Order: sequence, then C-alpha cells, then structure tokens
Amino acid sequence: MFLQCGNDSEEDMFGDYDSFFGNYSLPAQVDDMEHKCLQDKNRDVEAAGDTTLGNLQSGIHHKKQDSFSTSENMVVLKTDEEDAFQMNENDPVDSNQALTESLLDDLPSSQLLYFQKMDELSRGSRISPASERRNKCVSSSSDEIRSLSSVCPDGEQNNRSTDVSSDSKCGLFKTESLKDHLKSAMTGNAKAQFLQVSKAKQLKEAVLSEEICVARKTIESSSVDIGPFYGLPSKVKDLLRQFRGIETLYEWQHDCLMLESLQQRKNLIYSLPTSGGKTLVAEIIILQELLCRQRDVLMILPYVAIVQEKVWIQGLSSFGIELGFLVEEYAGSKGRFPPIKRRLKKSLYIATIEKGHALVNSLIETERIDDLGLVVVDELHMLGEGSRGATLEITLAKILYTSKNTQVIGMSATLNNVGELQKFLQAEYYTNNFRPVELKEYVKIRDTIYAVDNKAEKGFTFSRLLNFKYSSNLEKADPDHIIALVTEVIPKYSCLIFCPTKKNCENVASMVCKYLKTEFKALRQKEKQDLIKNLKSIGNGSVCPVLKQTIPFGVAYHHSGLTNDERKSIEEAYSAGVLCLLACTATLAAGVNLPARRVILRAPYVANDFLKKTQYKQMIGRAGRAGIDSAGESILIVQEKDKHLVQDLVNSPLENCYSNLLLELTKGMQSLLLSLVGLKIAVTHEEVNNFMCSTLLGVQQQLLSKEKSLSDIIKDGLENLIEKGLLKGRVPEKDHNSKCTLTITPLGKATYKGSIDLAYCNLLYRELKKGLEGLILESNLHLLYLATPYDMTSSCSPDWMIYLRQFNQLSAAEQKVADIVGVPESFITKKASGQAIRKNVDSAVVNRLYLTFVLYTLLKETNIWSVSEKFNLSRGYVQNLLNSAASFASCVLHFCEELEEFWVYKALLTELTKQLTYCVKTELIPLMEVAGVLEARAKQLYNAGYKTLAHLANADPETLVKMIEHLSKRQAKQIVSSAKMLLSEKAEALQEEVEELLRVPIDIPGTY
Ligand SMILES: Nc1ncnc2c1ncn2[C@@H]1O[C@H](COP(=O)(O)OP(=O)(O)OP(=O)(O)O)[C@@H](O)[C@H]1O
Ligand SMILES: [Mg+2]
Repeated sequence: MFLQCGNDSEEDMFGDYDSFFGNYSLPAQVDDMEHKCLQDKNRDVEAAGDTTLGNLQSGIHHKKQDSFSTSENMVVLKTDEEDAFQMNENDPVDSNQALTESLLDDLPSSQLLYFQKMDELSRGSRISPASERRNKCVSSSSDEIRSLSSVCPDGEQNNRSTDVSSDSKCGLFKTESLKDHLKSAMTGNAKAQFLQVSKAKQLKEAVLSEEICVARKTIESSSVDIGPFYGLPSKVKDLLRQFRGIETLYEWQHDCLMLESLQQRKNLIYSLPTSGGKTLVAEIIILQELLCRQRDVLMILPYVAIVQEKVWIQGLSSFGIELGFLVEEYAGSKGRFPPIKRRLKKSLYIATIEKGHALVNSLIETERIDDLGLVVVDELHMLGEGSRGATLEITLAKILYTSKNTQVIGMSATLNNVGELQKFLQAEYYTNNFRPVELKEYVKIRDTIYAVDNKAEKGFTFSRLLNFKYSSNLEKADPDHIIALVTEVIPKYSCLIFCPTKKNCENVASMVCKYLKTEFKALRQKEKQDLIKNLKSIGNGSVCPVLKQTIPFGVAYHHSGLTNDERKSIEEAYSAGVLCLLACTATLAAGVNLPARRVILRAPYVANDFLKKTQYKQMIGRAGRAGIDSAGESILIVQEKDKHLVQDLVNSPLENCYSNLLLELTKGMQSLLLSLVGLKIAVTHEEVNNFMCSTLLGVQQQLLSKEKSLSDIIKDGLENLIEKGLLKGRVPEKDHNSKCTLTITPLGKATYKGSIDLAYCNLLYRELKKGLEGLILESNLHLLYLATPYDMTSSCSPDWMIYLRQFNQLSAAEQKVADIVGVPESFITKKASGQAIRKNVDSAVVNRLYLTFVLYTLLKETNIWSVSEKFNLSRGYVQNLLNSAASFASCVLHFCEELEEFWVYKALLTELTKQLTYCVKTELIPLMEVAGVLEARAKQLYNAGYKTLAHLANADPETLVKMIEHLSKRQAKQIVSSAKMLLSEKAEALQEEVEELLRVPIDIPGTY
C-alpha cells in the first residue's frame, strides 16, 4: 500500500458524500431599496389576498403573472378563470365578485368543500374538520386502527359528501364569506397601489395586511384531504402494499401521524429504535405535503448510496409515477441549482446533506425558499458528525430563518440531548420504544455469552456457554470463535460481522470460508456462479481473489475498497439470500438497508477508536428483519482487557449531539458567515448575531469557553473573511454602531457558490490565475490538475518509481505541466533513485500531481481495475478519487462562473466534469443517467440494443429479464420506472422551456 488513506472509518464513508456546487443564476438585483420596500408591501398584500380567497382568486391574478397555482383544484378551475379574466379585466371588483359566485355555482361538491374548509380555517380554526373526524375515529376504536382506512375507509368520504349536500346553509354561508374575502382582498389590492398616499391609509393597510397574513398562515397550515388514507388517496395504501409489502401501519406510526402537532404543521423530531419504521411515517407526511398541500419537499439523507436506494430500490420514483409528482435525485453529480420550477407537478428532492445545502442556498437566492413546504431529515444525529454535521446545521438554520412556512421534521434512533435539538428546530418531540422484532443484545467474553442487562449491576448477566468443538488448529486460526458464532445462524439465516478495518473484513471472510463445510457450496450454486461471473465482467475480466474464494460459500466482504458496481452486486446478492454472511465495516450500519438475523461485532473498535454508543446502536440495529425474522440478536466480541470499557459502553446513555460549526471552522462557521452575507440573509454584525442565536451553536452557547462569547467569535470570523478578501466592510467595535453593512466580494461569491472549502479558496484562485498565463491544452492533464481535489492530497504518499514511470510516459508538452505547477523533473528522478533533495518542493503539490496522474490514466483507460493495479492502489480508493474529482471539477466550474476573468475555463471544465462524472465510453452515458444503472449494467443493456433512455422507459421488464443476465424482475421494473421518470422529467423541462420562450414579456417598452 503506497497510498496511505485516511482511517478506515472515515474512508469507509465510501467517499460518497458530495462536495456541493451551486449552479444558480445571479439573484435578481433590486436597484433601489425604497422601491423594493414598496414592491414587497404590494406583494404581501396581494399574496395575502390571494390566499384568503382560497387560491381561487390567485388563479385570476396569476394569469397576469403567469405563475398560477397548480393544485388539483386549480387545474380544474383554470379554463374558467382564464375566460373570466379576459371578460372582466376592466372592472375588477364587481365583475370578480360575480365571477366568484358563478364559479362557485358551477363547482363540484368536493371543491365547494375545499373552499368551505379554507373559509373555516381562515376564521381561526387550526384543526381541519377532517382531522377532527380522524381524531374521533381514533378514539372510538384506537386498538383496531393500525391503518386508518381499516376503520373508516369510505366512511370519511361519505361523511364528506353528506356534509356538503345535507347542509345547504353551510354552502350558502361559504359563498357569502368568500365574497367577503374577495371584496376585502380586492380592496387591499386596490389600496396597495396608493401606498404612499396617506399615513392613515397606510396604517389601515398594515392592519389589513396583518389580518390577511394571519389568515394566510392559518390556511397554509392546513392541508386538503384528498382521500381516506391519512388524507391521501387509498391508492397510496395499495402502493405501500404493492411496493413494500406493508399491509397495516404500526400503532405508533398511526399515533405519530395523528399527532396534534403534525396536524398543525409544527416542526417535529421523532425518535424510535432502529428498524422501528420511522421512514414510513416520514413518507406519508411527505406525500401529504406533495399531494394535499401541493408544495415541494426536500428529504435529506446522509450518503449518496442511501439517496440512490431511496430513489431507486425503495422505489419512491414508482410512487411519483403513480401519484403524479417528480422525484429528483440530488446526489453525486446529479441535481440542478436552482431546481427547475415546475408548473404542473410538485417535486420531491432527495438529497445528500451537501446537495441539500446547495439546493437550499439556490432557493434562498432565487427567493423560492417558500416553495419548500417540508424538509425531512433522516438520521438527525448526523448533526453532531464533523463537517457533514456542520453543513446540516447550516442548512436547517437557514431554512428556519428564511422560511417561516417550511415545516421541518427530523428523525433518528440515536438521540440524547433532545431538548437542545428541539430548541434549535423549534420542534415538538415524539418518542416510543417500539421495535417490530425484538433485539437481544449479547456480549461474548472468552467462551461465555452474557446478555446485556441494564438492570444488572455490571451491565450484563450470564446467558450460556458457547457450544463448540474446536481443534487446536482451529483454535489458533479463530481464537474469537467467529466460526462457532456464525454457523449457529448461517446458511439458514443471514449474518453480518462488523470488523474494525477493511483488511480485517477480508481476513475474516477468508478465514471463515477456510473452515466451513463444503455443503455450504451446494446451496444456490448457480446464483453464486452468476455473481462471480458478474463481478468478473464488472472488473473487465478480473475478480478479487478473496471474493472468488468466499462467494461459493455464500460469504463476502463489503467495504469501501470495492467499486460502486461491485458493492451493488454484493448487496443485491445478500438481499436475495444468495450470500448469507457479510464481513463489513462500520459504515454498512449507516448505509443501505441490509438487515440480518444476527449481527456480530468483531471487536469494540472502529479502526483504532473505541466504539461510541451511537455507532454501537446503529450497528446492532441491523439485526432482526421486520416481517422475516422473529428475533434479532447482536453479539459483541470482547477481550478480557476491554471488559470494563464495554460495561460502560452498554450502560452509558447515547452521546449528545454537539454543534460542529466551530470545530469545522472553514467548512462550518466561516463558510456560514460568508454565505449569510452572500445570500443577504444577514449583512450586519447585529443581524449575523441574531442569526447565529438560532443555530444549534447558539442554543449550546453555554458550552463555549468563558473568554470568548459567540458575538466575539462571530466578529473574529467576519474580520477573518474580510482579511481573506472574501467580504468587504467593517466590523464595528463593541458598543459601536453595529449597522455597518457587509458585502461579498466576487472572490467570496465564487467561493460560496462553488462550495469551495475556505481553506483552499485563495490557493485555487492563484492556481487558476497562473493557468491563464499558460495552460497546456495538448491533453486534459493540466486541467485535471486544477480539478484534483485538495482534500485528498494529505492522505496520499506517492510511490516514486510509479511517479517516474508515469512522468516518462508523458509527452514533452505534458511534462511541462509538472514544471509549471511546481514539480521539477529532477525532483521526481531524485526521489525515485533515493537521492537526497535540497530543493524545497511543496509536498501538497507533488501529491496532488500524483493523484492527477491517476485520474489522467483513468480517463484514458476507463478501467478502475487496471489503473488501481498500475498505481498499486485499492480500486475503492481509485473510485473514491474519481467521484471526488467529478464533484470538485464542478465546484471549480461554478467558482469560475462567478469570476469574469476565468470565463475561458467554463467550457473546458464543463466538459471535464462530464468526463469525470461518468468515466465511461460516451455511448453509455444516457443509460447511466438512470438511477441504479452503473457501468456494467449499462454495457449489458447497450449490447442488448437498449441504447437510449427512451428504449429503457418503454422496455418490457419481462423481456429485459430474459435478455439481460443477472437481472431480477424487481431490478428490471425499477430500471423501467426510473427511466420513465427521467424521461418525463426531461420532457417536462423542455415543455417548460418552450412555454418560457413563447411567453410574452409584461414589460415590452411602449405597451402597458
Ligand atoms: N407498518 C409496517 N409494517 C411492516 N413493515 C414495516 C412497517 N413499517 C416499516 N416497515 C418495514 O420495516 C423496515 C424498517 O423500517 P425503517 O427502515 O423505516 O426503520 P427505521 O426506523 O428508519 O430504522 P433505522 O433507524 O435503522 O433507519 C423496513 O423494511 C420497512 O419497510
Ligand atoms: Mg431509517
């Protein structure tokens, strides 16, 4: 191993968290503050009026603005409204009254009910009648209500129609009331045009606007039930059964969905043990937001692999197709900033933490943050984890601060300091101990198994002696009795062994197979052979010798040393039961959903660090598969010397979540301060102080050292940014006027738009500037150097012979690149021959160029296997480097887009980003855009004649299964539905572009 990578635990994040990049356009500049004020006020009154009228009027107004609401109700109303608008344009007040009446007369009863509900809500009732009814349902037969629909499936709809038809008075009252609203809002709009006329008028308006605002908020906090399943159509229930095999909701899931706080759209944190079924609750709330409230939703998940699983394996795309919303993936190289503004459908953005942040930035910048009705954060405890935690905190704080109407929901199995998190998120809290499959925790010391028992004095009690007969040879090879432990469950059930390091995973897998009986080989032989064949084709003929040896036994390892393709194949084989034992590293626990009957922890360590309680809980939480296993168990293997530490571990509470804004200075605090000013969220010291009080750091201020207050820290941070040339302005001394406005410099803007770590932004600028003087474009080597991620250089120590060999293979022009960036040939030669070097050469640059050579070879050969052999690196590391470089290249691209002097880089970096993102032959790119299709699968599909997205979207899954080797029916269906989704997304985007192009501008000179 010549490249020392970061420790196992860190690197094992599969390197698949993103650097983020913001592809957003420049914000609309407002010339004159006064003018803006006036506009804002006008807009407020107008918008408030719209909503008071229950979107009905908004349709009328928005015809002019061309941004009509797209709720189901609105679609029905649209044609009438358009006609009506044209007819009554000159006489807004009266004619609109008449219009409203006539419209209402023609409305179907369901929509009358809708307006009636809006009306009721605007009168201050915070709970919708439907939710009242629902609550009644629960109290009447709460035991039976696993699924609401099982109790009052159609009853609710019946109730509804009775409500409307039997109470004609109610309908009348509603019409009256709507008329009133229409009138008052129209008056408001009319008045808004003369804002500056008189103070008294202004005051009146302010009162009116305030009232309308309250009404609007009330209305916005409600949802419109469109069916009997928690307000959703019963089709959702059918889809849950069809796609997930979920028949009924757990009782807690029902209770949680019925929470008063949720009905009122308050923010919520909920916490249940692993496998408790938290996701389903979030998904139902998401669907309510998308379908009933017609707002976009952002779901933030910790890793790229999980985002892809959500979109692809767990089939949210299929829900989208069936229910008419879009699912947009924001992970890896995917995602558009700002997102395309959809007119007809709502979007569910499924994003990694980093992409979620970039998305939120772009929405704030384009003043669209209010479009986001709901943000769901899974694994909320990630707030406490390093730079990702800091980014998550920043994202949530920005949403909470800038959009009062966006609901935030967070969930986790491992939270401790909930009070602080509640304060941060201004959230209610729900918790329950439910776990569908009981999890029994054990600890093994020597040959004794102890049950973990919090009530016992030492934390565990004797359970049994391990029953095994080991020869002395076996005892030597397997002193921790892993084989005895695994053979108690495999091959009948599945088992995971968490190991401290990657190497250890491979060793354990090999060792176990060495001693397993040959009968293991006879099981599912054909499928195992297929898996090996598949891995071979992924590896262009090579397959890892360890996997080749272990797979016939149904055993494999799983860690970041695998390529994405390999990892996916192994996960699929394990899910299908072809593999029954995986030796894996800690990140599988936080990664994809691969549960087991038994989970073994090889040692209480992750790399060299003793286990944290949260890690322990997440790992053992994989045990017990809902609906499949009747029990789950975990066994932690402990050496005598660690016994006390383990006693503490099992007895201690979970770790607290602490803010990482200060620990991760450049990716945390500084980056936050920069973007606050850049996005104009807070532009004075005072405003920044205010904002910071609403962060988790603000909530945890008491933990700061006594010498420096948060305000001092902010002051230092801002001054530092000014010093770095990223901000302009002055930070006032204490007690001085703190209203001095800060502005962002072009370099500052480029930095936050490109999501460049502040530690490197000045260096990047200098290097790009130097590139302008003489970029060598004979090949992409020089550009690749500029796009090689800085943060990977410290973990790299080059093999000098390989360095020299690679250097010698370059053309003369390419060799010049090394010299230009600061690595003289003589340095490489001397290093390779072991000579002493007097010259001072920057090792960061030397390492970076070495990584550039790896990327250069990769783009040439498009084969991770051969490149990893050439450079003597693990293929997982090479894969990780490639992913990071793709992300960083696009970050640099966005950085350059903001700086005029770097215009020339734009075209070059756009192309390079694409090359790095796919690193395959061009013809495979369209197929690889489909979620879940990686290179190997793309090749198979291409060779079978599926060459375009349209081929896949229109493919018959049955035929696909027949034509493509190792493709299950489930996978085939997923490919087809993903392709369909992508195709319709692209088509819609084009249609919207067409509409945009043909739209008549409202400000054509000379026409009013
Ligand atoms: N009502 C239900 N009936 C049957 N199965 C369910 C139900 N709800 C959830 N499940 C299944 O239980 C499994 C675990 O659910 P989920 O992944 O939501 O757990 P979780 O609480 O998020 O756990 P973790 O903290 O480990 O992420 C999933 O396979 C899910 O499909
Ligand atoms: Mg979960």
